[in-house]
Amino acid sequence: MSRAADILTAAVKAKSAITLGLATGGTMVPLYAELVARNRAGSLSLARATTFNLDEYVGLAPDHPGSCHRFMAEVLFDPTDMRASHAHLPHGDALDPKVEAQAFQARIDAAGGIDLQLLGLGQNGHIGFNEPTSSLGSRTRIKTLTVSTRCANRQYFEIEADVPRYAITMGIATILEARAIVLLATGSAKAAAASAMIEGPLSAVCPASALQLHPRATVVLDAGAASALQLSDHFQHVHPEGQDSVFS
Ligand code: PGA
Repeated sequence: MSRAADILTAAVKAKSAITLGLATGGTMVPLYAELVARNRAGSLSLARATTFNLDEYVGLAPDHPGSCHRFMAEVLFDPTDMRASHAHLPHGDALDPKVEAQAFQARIDAAGGIDLQLLGLGQNGHIGFNEPTSSLGSRTRIKTLTVSTRCANRQYFEIEADVPRYAITMGIATILEARAIVLLATGSAKAAAASAMIEGPLSAVCPASALQLHPRATVVLDAGAASALQLSDHFQHVHPEGQDSVFS
């Protein structure tokens, strides 16, 4: 967790007017808590940062308790010096979500693209809400959520019927266009997806495997998420205790 926080902190220090791509989900909660602590301690400022979130549920207003808007406000934006006008998420309650998806992509492009994209990992290998078999060439659009994703997100909604069926999500090509990527995954429930992402074939069946194409993608895993890797000895050898190799 502190490794991911260190990468983000270094990137913001190197370019204070950075454009960050942000993710929601349980994995991000301790990371954002660390960023909030650093912000309060004065060692990290987000005042000049612009952010674009990966996704939002279709049909949810920004103040819905299960929305990505609300999550981000609670865990990162409100407790830091982040400026609300610099934070962008797709509007899930837009009159025409298809038009909103295209407009969101256009806002990313107009901002000059994303410097550093943060990603979580779905148990099914999704990144953003790009579910298995999403086009590797996709840009921001509407996706139908899988049963597995809806089950994973059930905890954020009062009743099952409230769990949204559709989301606006950056596409896989949108994600790959970011100049750098950091993917964070924790816990053994992510072990199979992490192994497919890193060691499996490049395939739309595991959307996260598309990161194999990216020149500056860093994957940060805890022991549980790394537990199914075949080449873990090699990864330990190259990055002892998760540190950068001497040539980075
Ligand atoms: P999680 O979600 O952090 O809540 O496990 C990750 C994801 O689905 O991308």
